[in-house]
Amino acid sequence: MPANKNQQNPAFFLTTPIYYVNARPHLGHTYTTVAADALARWKRTRGFDVRFLTGTDEHGQKIERSAAKAGKTPEQFAADVSQEFRALWDRMGLTYDDYIRTTEERHKRGVQHLFRVLQQRGFIYKGKYAGQYCVFDELYVDGPPGTVCPDCGRLTETVSEENYFFKLSAFERRLLEYFEAHPEFIQPEARRNEVLAFVRSGLRDLSISRTSFNWGIPVPGDEKHVIYVWMDALANYITALGYGMEQHPLLDRYWPAQVQLIGKEISRFHCVYWPAFLMAAGLPLPQTVIAHGWLLFEQSKMSKSRGNIVRAETVLDVLGADALRYFLLREIRFGQDGSFSFDALVQRYNADLANGYGNLVSRTLAMIGKYFDGRIPEGAVDAGLQAEAEQAITKVSSGYDALQFSDALDALWRLIAQTDGYLTANAPWKVAASEDAASRKRLAEILYSAAASIRVITALAYPVIPDAAAKVWKQLGLGDIATADLKHLTWGGLQPGTRLGEPGPVFPRAEKEAISRMQAIEEQHPARATAEAEKQPAVFQNPAAVPVSPKVVPPEPTAFTPTAVPAAPPTQSLTAASPGLPAAAEANPAVAAPATGKISIEDFARVELRVAQVLKAERVPNADRLLRLEVDLGYEQRQIVAGIAEAYAPETLIGRKVVIVANLAPRKLRGLESNGMIVAASVGEKGRPVLAGFLEDVEIGARLK
Ligand code: ME8
Ligand code: MG
Repeated sequence: MPANKNQQNPAFFLTTPIYYVNARPHLGHTYTTVAADALARWKRTRGFDVRFLTGTDEHGQKIERSAAKAGKTPEQFAADVSQEFRALWDRMGLTYDDYIRTTEERHKRGVQHLFRVLQQRGFIYKGKYAGQYCVFDELYVDGPPGTVCPDCGRLTETVSEENYFFKLSAFERRLLEYFEAHPEFIQPEARRNEVLAFVRSGLRDLSISRTSFNWGIPVPGDEKHVIYVWMDALANYITALGYGMEQHPLLDRYWPAQVQLIGKEISRFHCVYWPAFLMAAGLPLPQTVIAHGWLLFEQSKMSKSRGNIVRAETVLDVLGADALRYFLLREIRFGQDGSFSFDALVQRYNADLANGYGNLVSRTLAMIGKYFDGRIPEGAVDAGLQAEAEQAITKVSSGYDALQFSDALDALWRLIAQTDGYLTANAPWKVAASEDAASRKRLAEILYSAAASIRVITALAYPVIPDAAAKVWKQLGLGDIATADLKHLTWGGLQPGTRLGEPGPVFPRAEKEAISRMQAIEEQHPARATAEAEKQPAVFQNPAAVPVSPKVVPPEPTAFTPTAVPAAPPTQSLTAASPGLPAAAEANPAVAAPATGKISIEDFARVELRVAQVLKAERVPNADRLLRLEVDLGYEQRQIVAGIAEAYAPETLIGRKVVIVANLAPRKLRGLESNGMIVAASVGEKGRPVLAGFLEDVEIGARLK
């Protein structure tokens, strides 16, 4: 059975990353998916048999924890968020051909098959992993306990497990040879150089299973292990094509992919691990992995953990999908970082879409309506304009082919400006004032040429602004653009005599209030409030600036047991404000006082004191002294129950920076888990707690030592 009726056309398989369901979709995800959609549409117009895949990444410890936090089962949590992604892509009219969820049966089967194949081919062995793991990035990190993640700057967790390993080290040479022989494999150049440097620095075998949690695909034949989430996730690109099934016509037809689009932060997974898995499985490698830059908002990478997100829906509500697509692809040079702002969006919308394209179309078609009764006039063509349009066809095409969307759109909007300039210079409204034959002929030439140019512009704009292009195509009297043959786009395709369709606005001008409207929608959205509450300090984007010294090696949390100590001297002592006992009676549990009454520096170093910021504070019902606090440590948020309610009203604490004992074993108070203690001076006879603080501003997460 043929996989597709277009067998005779060249196959073009195009993928986006599959997005983690711990975050709701925002403009960062939209950016990649829109770029893929524009490319898919472009390639389809060029006659390719395109298959465009997207989906969601639903397993792993991070998702398991997010689900627990949301009070849902991982299944339900993943299903809900996955559906939000899909609903957004559908609302935007994105033309994906398949949507894969890693919790689907077809995917699980495929991943287990891949595991078995690698095992049979001798690339998997069992060993012990003892090291650091970043749950946020689901990344193994080299270094001692206390090491921060090189990608996100968060503190890694110590993992010590018996695991399955993949012989990544065996692929070092083969990968380098492959990169050498296929310079186009990793794009752009900057990413290629990073990946080359990483592989040249030496590859270590990769742990590909975990036993400390369950939310994942079981290792076939050894079900207490789940398969490492990145191996699981990367395999989606082939499991979606039927890998692991007996019959897999889609895999035969579409693999290897032509283009795998990713954001630059996941290049290592896609350009080192992924090709190594494929080589090990005996499958061909994708033709190109193309890593784009980051969409920045308020000066840093737009991301849920930083809380600086904008949702696509907000822009759709006010300006529509085409405006958003155009902005993202025009404003940001593909491959580089670029900023999003509501101001820039509205400016571009008005300048390029409303006043540029929209206005050119409406004035040209209005004149054809008025002077030629709504039919494309028969006239000579303007040779100059024709030459400009032909040049634009070439430039725009090669821009799209190279995924240089901003260059392509720049060239296309130059043609819009040239056509506008042509009308202004030839002033058809003046020519129309004379009824003589020569003037009519001249008028026909001007308006035919402008309309022919608009046809070319519209066909070329279609991959980026499909809704508007479809409207204009109809208004030109050309019918449905989706079924038009745009493959052989030439200047001369507009037939004189064609009756124009119904005129109508394409891009109505946006008022200045559009900016404040979008800002207000974002600020009032509940997703924003959640994101704010989970915000990371911006400093965490730059590992170099992380306020945690990697040289310091805190004790493993599990090895840490609080020991009771004698009551500290009364009044004015620095102690941990903690409920249940009088504050002074529960001095720092890590500090077991030796006989001398003095402790060593090592003893003190075992106490992890850190600066945290209070995000939320509320009274604990039926407990006069207790407050439930949520504090942000930069690398994580946690709940602490503190006995300070008599001294501090909850609302006065929000935003305040406090000192906490960060490595205290968790315990339950009134049924609430408390993770750490807040440090306070105990003042006066009653031991009134006074929170420790700083005169200077200090970064969240900074350690006291
Ligand atoms: O990494 N700018 O998922 P994820 C540009 N599940 N692109 C952005 C962006 C931003 N600010 N924010 C997100 C994962 N993206 C894994 C992938 S693939 C086998 C598994 C886009 O939800 C960009 O494409 O963190 C980035 O690579 C991706 O979303 C990360 O999505
Ligand atoms: Mg990410």
